[in-house]
Amino acid sequence: MTASPTVAEAPPWVDADWADEVRELARRRDAVLLAHNYQLPAIQDVAHHTGDSLALSRIAAESDAATIVFCGVHFMAETAKILAPEKTVLIPDANAGCSLADSITVDQLRAWKADHPDAVVVSYVNTTAAVKAETDICCTSSNAVEVVASIPADREVLFLPDQFLGAHVRRVLGRENMHVWAGECHVHAGINGATLTAQAQANPDAELYVHPECGCATSALYLAGAGAVPADRVKILSTGGMLDAARASSTSRVLVATEVGMLHQLRKAAPEVDFRAVNDRASCTYMKMITPEKLLRSLREGTDEVHVDPELAARGRAAVQRMIEIGQPGGGE
Ligand code: 13P
Ligand code: SF4
Repeated sequence: MTASPTVAEAPPWVDADWADEVRELARRRDAVLLAHNYQLPAIQDVAHHTGDSLALSRIAAESDAATIVFCGVHFMAETAKILAPEKTVLIPDANAGCSLADSITVDQLRAWKADHPDAVVVSYVNTTAAVKAETDICCTSSNAVEVVASIPADREVLFLPDQFLGAHVRRVLGRENMHVWAGECHVHAGINGATLTAQAQANPDAELYVHPECGCATSALYLAGAGAVPADRVKILSTGGMLDAARASSTSRVLVATEVGMLHQLRKAAPEVDFRAVNDRASCTYMKMITPEKLLRSLREGTDEVHVDPELAARGRAAVQRMIEIGQPGGGE
């Protein structure tokens, strides 16, 4: 196996002066810089907070900064605006979309609901504001199981849009009355079972960290079930969960099945562990649209500002607030 690359190298001008300028411009704007774990390393390092979708949503909701600069994809910045409508929310490139969020439209959701009028709608946070406005509870990969478990067992559930995360939740809860939309993220779907199996066999002592959006999540559990990999070495985790596991790990090698940006935080959290990407081409072009140059422009010029129609935001807010409460220490479920 080839060693995983160190994600993307930053251009030479992305140095301490660049970082100082970014932080100084943020201070002048009273802005908090948030970066998702899949962002370029330089962006992760300059941000005030780096984390998974759930952690960043919670920080956006609680921050007392006047401006949130969201280094992530568009639905994340929209979610921050829904939670904090009084704040200015900026994203360095508003074209940073998400193939998973694009896999269901609001019209498709309305038609699905019409076929199941009594169902509770659970939407992954990777959805547009219009879809959130038609949703009862949002979730992220960190708390999807807890969110569905919070719904009375006799209520039908419509879970969207990620089929692999949905299959994971159904497997964990053994819930039959849960319908799952057939959407997927092209990056995670491309991390397939055959690649994972070959690498697990070539590295029999390695642990496997698998994001539940991955096409290979079922294969990972199959490998564990069939005894090919000890069950305690297979961990299905959100990106934040991977970091917690890395900090607690005593293993020497981990195979990581998620977007390659994750390797940067993992290597910082546990430098003695050899983290290797299961698929080193699993890079999200949308996440990588947020470049050091665009971050500077965003802070200098106030671009791109994120707006959510206030009526849509009001309709989606309860679902998103429920999401940030569930799975929170002291947050109930
Ligand atoms: P988490 O950071 O919530 O695990 O999400 C992964 C993802 O694909 C975000 O787009
Ligand atoms: Fe969307 Fe997949 Fe990119 Fe995450 S990795 S932002 S789910 S396309």
